[in-house]
Amino acid sequence: MPRIKEHIILPPRQKPSVDFTFDGKKLLAVPGEMISSALIANGIHVFSHHHKDNAPQGIFCANGQCSQCTVLADGLPVKACVTAVTPGMEVFTLRGNPAIPCAEETPEFRPPEELEADVLVIGGGPAGLAAALELGGKGASVILVDDKHRMGGKLVLQTHKFFGSVDDCYAGTRGIDIAARLEQELSACPGVQAWSNSNAVAVFSDRRVGITRDGAYILVKPRALLVAAGAREKSLPFPGNTLPGIYGAGAFQTLVNRDLVAPCRKLFIIGGGNVGLIAAYHAAATHNSPGHPRIVWAHAEANRHDVHGAIDGAGEQLRHPADFSVAALDVGEEDDVGALYGEHSRRLGE
Ligand code: FES
Repeated sequence: MPRIKEHIILPPRQKPSVDFTFDGKKLLAVPGEMISSALIANGIHVFSHHHKDNAPQGIFCANGQCSQCTVLADGLPVKACVTAVTPGMEVFTLRGNPAIPCAEETPEFRPPEELEADVLVIGGGPAGLAAALELGGKGASVILVDDKHRMGGKLVLQTHKFFGSVDDCYAGTRGIDIAARLEQELSACPGVQAWSNSNAVAVFSDRRVGITRDGAYILVKPRALLVAAGAREKSLPFPGNTLPGIYGAGAFQTLVNRDLVAPCRKLFIIGGGNVGLIAAYHAAATHNSPGHPRIVWAHAEANRHDVHGAIDGAGEQLRHPADFSVAALDVGEEDDVGALYGEHSRRLGE
């Protein structure tokens, strides 16, 4: 699939220049790009084969939570969606369970650094950021940890303008701009330390929390612990729901809006709530790229008029919304999603 060269909202990204290989084939990644996005940008969607039935697997959450994207990189099993490509990296398809790597030497362990704070906030998405800002503004000492390379959580994937109340949730502002604003406020907030690329890996009975950061292990003893780790992608139970090409909405947003990688040419969206609508909008915003997606949107009581209206309404900056092949179908709880997808794929004629 092509990289998205022209996005209606986002500026173009750097050109791919980092050499790596996948199953021996030479490929290029954008500097700092995650393995999963680099592979999909190179047309590779199968990252592993399941140890039970050899079923192909690709990404589902793109957020480090499901492990479906595991590959072997330089001899180690890693989650492709949260591991950046490094120059010369050798990546291989994982077949079955990975072997436990052999360690030549016993690693040396040093006593971990120990810190105290009034509040430890786990999760640097909108809730964690807002809490840290509120607490820091009231004079509390706060440590905010997040496993990603920057704060903002899902906001950094959201190119649409928020709706609702201006005072409560920045209505009328794009998620990416809200993230930048909150990050800026955080950097000016005394008493708040924001640790990116940091994982809270254990909460012990003595109230200490173990955190990995930049290769070090740190113990933090907070007076209060605030967990704002966000939501999880929810999978629908239907046969084949772990096959490559079936994405959680967050993974789709990650590819399209963070990494400017087009994961598909035909998009079948299950769910016509705000997330389904926004996914259609995000897909539509890539329409100037070759092979822009055709969209089928499935939702109970949906109709073609609703979907066109929703995309027109959400995509206030779309130049040619009529370019999209959009269909809508009414799905109920009893429907076979896989069969519906097959039927509508044929109807879209690809
Ligand atoms: S952990 Fe990588 S796709 Fe879920």
